Amino acid sequence: MTATTTKQKHEVKDLSLAPIGKQRIEWAGREMPVLKQIRDRFEKEKPFAGIRLIACCHVTTETAHLAIALKAGGADAILIASNPLSTQDDVAACLVADYGIPVFAIKGEDNDTYHRHVQTALDHRPNIIIDDGSDVVATLIQERQHQIADLIGTTEETTTGIVRLRAMHRDGVLTFPAVNVNDADTKHFFDNRYGTGQSTLDGVIRATNVLLAGKTVVVAGYGWCGKGTAMRARGLGANIIVTEIDPTKAIEAVMDGFRVMPMAEAAPLGDLFITVTGNKHVIRGEHFDVMKDGAMVCNSGHFDIEIDLKALAGKATEVKQVRNFTQEYRLPSGKSVVVLGEGRLINLAAAEGHPSAVMDMSFANQALACEYLVTNKGKLEPGLHSIPVDVDKEIARLKLQAMGISLDSLTPDQIEYTNSWTAGT
Ligand code: ADE
Repeated sequence: MTATTTKQKHEVKDLSLAPIGKQRIEWAGREMPVLKQIRDRFEKEKPFAGIRLIACCHVTTETAHLAIALKAGGADAILIASNPLSTQDDVAACLVADYGIPVFAIKGEDNDTYHRHVQTALDHRPNIIIDDGSDVVATLIQERQHQIADLIGTTEETTTGIVRLRAMHRDGVLTFPAVNVNDADTKHFFDNRYGTGQSTLDGVIRATNVLLAGKTVVVAGYGWCGKGTAMRARGLGANIIVTEIDPTKAIEAVMDGFRVMPMAEAAPLGDLFITVTGNKHVIRGEHFDVMKDGAMVCNSGHFDIEIDLKALAGKATEVKQVRNFTQEYRLPSGKSVVVLGEGRLINLAAAEGHPSAVMDMSFANQALACEYLVTNKGKLEPGLHSIPVDVDKEIARLKLQAMGISLDSLTPDQIEYTNSWTAGT
């Protein structure tokens, strides 16, 4: 761990990892052409000159490109981890050593260190906060009301964070603008669905190396992340069961060809359980009791609360580390339950998170949301704001352009038709 003593400039695992981080960051950049274009423009226009910014994100190769773009735009930016297990230590080292970006993040940091880093970030007196799960914003509101005057606004990446921001708004404590990046079509259609879908299965496979063909995979939650996870698990030959509490999403899962049932019925059937609901204790004591011997459970929702690990630990007679990110809990019945990634985001704990090609769009949204906040400083009402539709469409257009794919366009006759109400049967 390296740090200066007076005004601490970073806290990362090992600066000597920087060259590996640099190589991996450069590789990720090949798949991030949209953010690259934004970065090139930021470099010229410096929209963040004089702005203090903190980003609380998973410290990955993709986040590196976001941080570099913000710094190119003139931001005085620092980066902290949004999860104790998701940091890529080589990336953190490279951002400090090669890009001069202060990073406070170490893979495997304990909860106290994680919260201390949130405080360190807030000591930066941010004008803009990029949040992923809303821990920084929640801390600001609860502990640092006096700093809200410094704030232009915040942006939020995840469904979980948006649920928390809505609760803050309902309770009257969201007294500044917050941009709902998750709401952009170019974010949740791709990141939540294709990103979570691929990276979750990648995490399960890296942690266990099990064959998924022929297994029964129970996916808890059929939001965008659940849809992607179920789709990709089916693609690997698994039989899928979906659990849901929302009737419309449940019908969608049925019509997508999946079995839908309550967790109590799914628990004895599953070989692998993946939670992506955003809610707590989706898998709990009574479910562990009836699982098959060796059933595996993991989570790809933002927080590690979806699986009631305390209940499992309370029942277990022995807990054994059987592989990296894989722990076996022996129950008094003699059966075992295998927990992957300590119940934290399996895609970031055991794999590398969403692939760069989808994070390109997510982080293009983040970068442009920050610019939107700065451009509209003092003009936006407190509360949640969507990314403007034209920004969302522009990101899609740039992505298509980078992929070499062209769109059709309307003929004058078609434009007239779509604008008229008189032409009918
Ligand atoms: N969230 C999910 N995947 C991610 C990634 N690769 N980088 C940053 N945040 C993420």
